[in-house]
Amino acid sequence: MEHSVVIVNSGRRLSAQEGDSLLAVLQAAREAPDAPCGGHGKCGKCRVTVNGEQRLACQTKIYGDTEVVLPAGRRTEILTDSAFVPGAADGTHTYAAAFDIGTTTVVCYLMDGRAGRLLAQTSCVNPQTQFGADVISRIQYAMDKDASVMARCIRDALDKLVREAADQAGISPEEIGVTAIVGNTAMHHLLLEIDPKPLTVPPYMPSVREALEMNGASLLPSCPNSEIRILPNIAGFVGADTVGCLVATRFDRLEELTLMIDIGTNGEMVLGDRSRRIACSTAAGPAFEGAKIQCGMRGAAGAVDHVTLENGKIQWSVIGGGVPVGLCGSGLLDLVAALLETGDISESGQMLCGDRYTLEGTGVFLTRKDVREVQLAKAAIRAGIELMCSTLGVEPKDIRKVLLAGAFGNYLNPASACAIGMIPPILLPRIQPIGNAAGGGARLCALSSREFAYSKQLAQGTEFLELASLPEFNDCYVDCLMFEED
Ligand code: FES
Repeated sequence: MEHSVVIVNSGRRLSAQEGDSLLAVLQAAREAPDAPCGGHGKCGKCRVTVNGEQRLACQTKIYGDTEVVLPAGRRTEILTDSAFVPGAADGTHTYAAAFDIGTTTVVCYLMDGRAGRLLAQTSCVNPQTQFGADVISRIQYAMDKDASVMARCIRDALDKLVREAADQAGISPEEIGVTAIVGNTAMHHLLLEIDPKPLTVPPYMPSVREALEMNGASLLPSCPNSEIRILPNIAGFVGADTVGCLVATRFDRLEELTLMIDIGTNGEMVLGDRSRRIACSTAAGPAFEGAKIQCGMRGAAGAVDHVTLENGKIQWSVIGGGVPVGLCGSGLLDLVAALLETGDISESGQMLCGDRYTLEGTGVFLTRKDVREVQLAKAAIRAGIELMCSTLGVEPKDIRKVLLAGAFGNYLNPASACAIGMIPPILLPRIQPIGNAAGGGARLCALSSREFAYSKQLAQGTEFLELASLPEFNDCYVDCLMFEED
């Protein structure tokens, strides 16, 4: 039997079959709220109002005509800047575009292909978040349900972003002659509808590692005249976005031992210098992007983004000001660091102030379980740093520079990252945020075929370290769970 589902916010009317999941109906119509846990009823983030009652969309089945009120959209702060400006373009094309497809956000850059000047940039939340915050939920959806839905969803977003960018720059998207794309391995496979299964089973390798070239019409209908360059992947969870970072930082030319960290839903890291470099991926989990944290949210209006301790009192700032509604990654990290300092959290992660800590006068709080999620994430990153160092026969203190790439790396307070032991405290003065380096690398590769060739060379010369296969991994990880500073 067919029922109607009316979205009260817009008046849009959808149809559903008896017993359909409300989340699935909203997903099919691209109207779904975020579903970080992939519809398993665990995260509580897909809450909507159904016929006047608050419900989880993923746990609601349709048995009659239904009215749904979706939560008000909150504009997510998206990092588009890169510390690295594009070098000389080869001038082959009048206009060039670049995309950085992140698990959470997508950024499009439009450039003058001759001078390399940035003409416009547009961004959006990755619409695949409606199928889960983490890459595994999305891969699972693609494997169990429909890979083409996942591909169409991101392709439509790219096409829309490039049209908006062209509009801002006053050109036609048909004039774009070349486009470069970076993304993590899962985003890469889901975009291209490449079988993602090998990413989920040992040895967790991508189905396609090499750089790809294709014509625009196949991916971006609005840019039929564009040649498309997809940067190569290095390994299962070290993808083209990491290669973009390597291009932007000229990693193979660095004189000093450098650690680059890109913390997103995974933490990809590269350690090395001009003589040798190794890369790894750590299962940092999406805690720092708000998932699995009870009051967690993305960095959008209403999120507590920074917490400080002033005269023993916890103070905070809110994106956009006003009443806080949740904690984004940087605020979460700061809050845990501050509570460690006040003694409300012990070195082993016990909460000594009760079951939860509430920011005074607000509804935003931190639970024991949230602290545990932070411990798991920070231990994954710290263990990765320690094991990469031992593989290269160096110690953390030998690292001369720490480059923090990506949105979280840009907004986090390095002192808090060191205070909780995610980054060795000795490295605090050597930390430098570098903005959206993956996007910077994509821009370079769009502007010059030499840079695209350079990306292939960088990917080939990067050794991959599979952390979980190291016999010392488990012990190291467990040691790193402690908040104790060294
Ligand atoms: S509780 Fe519904 S998607 Fe997580």
